[in-house]
Amino acid sequence: MPSTTRVNSVIEIERAGDVALIRIDNPPVNAAGRDVRQGIEDAINALAGDDSIKAIGLYGAGRTFVAGADIREFGKPPLAPSLPDVCNTIERCGKPVVAVLHGTALGGGLELAMASHARIGLTGLRVGLPEVLLGILPGAGGTQRAPRLVGIPFALDMITTGRHLPAAEALEHGLIDQLKDGDPRDVALASAKAVVAGNLKTRRTDEIAVEPNDAALEAAKAKIAKKTPHLFSPVKCVEAVAASVTPIDEGLATERHLYIQCHDSPQRAGLIHAFFAERAVAKVPEAKATPRPVQKIGVIGGGTMGSGITTSALLAGFDVTMIEVAAEALERGTGTVRKNLEGAVKRGKLAEAKHAETVARLGASTDMTDLADADLVIEAVFENMEVKKEIFTKLDGIVKDGTILASNTSYLNINEIAACTKRPQDVLGLHFFSPAHVMRLLEIVVADKTAPEVVATGFALAKRMKKVGVRAGVCDGFIGNRILSHYLRVTNYMVMDGATPEQIDDALEGFGFAMGPFRVSDLAGLDIGWAERKRLAPLRPAAERVIEIGDRICENGWFGRKTGRGYYVYDEGDAHPNPEVANIIASERAKAGVTPRDFTDQEIVDRYMTAMISEAARVVDDGIALRPVDVDAVFLFGYGFPRFRGGPLAYADTIGAAELIKRIEAYAKEDSHYWQVPDLLRRMAADGSTFAQLNEGK
Ligand code: CAA
Repeated sequence: MPSTTRVNSVIEIERAGDVALIRIDNPPVNAAGRDVRQGIEDAINALAGDDSIKAIGLYGAGRTFVAGADIREFGKPPLAPSLPDVCNTIERCGKPVVAVLHGTALGGGLELAMASHARIGLTGLRVGLPEVLLGILPGAGGTQRAPRLVGIPFALDMITTGRHLPAAEALEHGLIDQLKDGDPRDVALASAKAVVAGNLKTRRTDEIAVEPNDAALEAAKAKIAKKTPHLFSPVKCVEAVAASVTPIDEGLATERHLYIQCHDSPQRAGLIHAFFAERAVAKVPEAKATPRPVQKIGVIGGGTMGSGITTSALLAGFDVTMIEVAAEALERGTGTVRKNLEGAVKRGKLAEAKHAETVARLGASTDMTDLADADLVIEAVFENMEVKKEIFTKLDGIVKDGTILASNTSYLNINEIAACTKRPQDVLGLHFFSPAHVMRLLEIVVADKTAPEVVATGFALAKRMKKVGVRAGVCDGFIGNRILSHYLRVTNYMVMDGATPEQIDDALEGFGFAMGPFRVSDLAGLDIGWAERKRLAPLRPAAERVIEIGDRICENGWFGRKTGRGYYVYDEGDAHPNPEVANIIASERAKAGVTPRDFTDQEIVDRYMTAMISEAARVVDDGIALRPVDVDAVFLFGYGFPRFRGGPLAYADTIGAAELIKRIEAYAKEDSHYWQVPDLLRRMAADGSTFAQLNEGK
């Protein structure tokens, strides 16, 4: 008769004849926190000294094997036993240990498995060493044992990309020994018995020799230097893998030393903040409401945004009807969607076999009444309040009761749009970012009367579309574009005062942005900002410093990449600064009587980031964003903010409120209208608090 003994709150041993099973039960993802580590260590030691036991099976309860170390413990004082020690205990155990993996075996989870003496994967398993994505390296022997099992080239691929491998690939490369179907506990029992019967071979990973491969190491270093020049941990990953050709104790010591360097780097803190930010934003007051069922979606507008939204919805399995005013525009819009879907197949985002079925879910019409039975309608026409109001009034009379009406507006007032319907409780903003089938951010804009279940439906939609939904309040530009409008002004001020657009772009790319602000504006189209400036001109306070360089550029018909010319000139893939822009800048400076001065790259970054943080602080204080982390997520997933810096307000904590105020007050000597100290920063400086504390509700 099998008997079970509890080792601690998360680990149990089951004895069945001459084999024993160790069960890990630490929901939701069996993260290897202190109790898991201590429990496994104690269980292995107990079983190693038990003469009746000949083999041990290790498996996880619930939806997954171990999904990694407990990320919440990072940055806190270490708690013994460490994961490397537990892995060593398993590897050195005199009894064979077979790990049975289901769900995911990631990071420390895969390291526990690699230290075991055989690995069985269950159907659907995904494995990987994603530590690099958190700014660290697989520090529980992963950099030493992976090369022993799969060779240096494949280990480098796994460790430097952090990608998740499907079970078949893990089997093909020898990371797992067998792939089976079944329940983890039953397979663990059968596998342990198979070991005893001599039907399943086991071996110690540390006894496998690694074949040196300097070429692969050099190639990995070159790839990292090109693709992620700002990141610290990928380089350390390669250095650690290089040490795998030495005896394992030496290699493990090198790995530990490099791991500590990564762990202590600010990039680790930033990347882990980003990991939790992605999950924290779903925790909103409306999360408990039940989302309305959505299957049929209407999208009004077949332009870039409408086509992108339609593509994203089709990829998520919805039935979508696109509406355009004229047949020709509709044909263009659906053509773009079809092209996007073909691209999705090429990029591996859509299985070839599912392509026809996905295209078949696309409907098209020039008649809005075809949306009568839609569950959700997303309006994505150009930014004009009158046009939007007309559409919403019409839709209100067409769609069934309970249909949710959403606007993809980037700036306009959702309350005003909702007010022209008889169902303001069913109206919200769903602000996608271009290209909508690629960018992960979705701002879910909650108007005064939006019902909680409508907000919950927005979040459910984001999840199904694999997007990061962030709750935003109503104001001009919501979270992202409101902050963007503010800090873009500082780039113009710096250009007027002496910097060049390319110097600003280069400085910010050096800080880690994927693209500088002028390159982004050229890509998005300079006419967009121009229209926005014209819209806001009548509302502009008299004290505001106005720079017209951008207007002069647009007056020439230079709207950026799409016209071949903007801040840069685009010649067959090559981009260089537009010489005419330098003339425009010189003439605008002369007109305003400005004598240009030099800017250092550091000053550019400081001014840009201080402007961004200032408006972000106001957005939090005004309740437009629920917490600082919501602002961080918006910038990480919608604006190419360097992930390793965690987001604008996580970065602000590394500077501190007092220092930020000092900077703002110094800049205010030049322009006291633009540079004003946000009240929130003043309060934070007074009580020494941080944005991180605000995230925790402190
Ligand atoms: N530690 C702590 N908490 C974790 C965690 C971890 N390793 N992984 C997931 N969680 C938490 C999430 O924060 C989330 O919590 P809330 O519900 O409170 O928001 C909960 O578990 C469920 O996670 P998801 O919402 O992400 O669930 P999912 O089903 O969408 O994805 C997953 C599951 C694929 C495992 C995903 O959570 C994931 O990728 N986790 C991280 C895996 C990872 O990076 N592991 C390596 C850790 S580093 C390491 O192991 C270091 C080392 O070598 C010593």
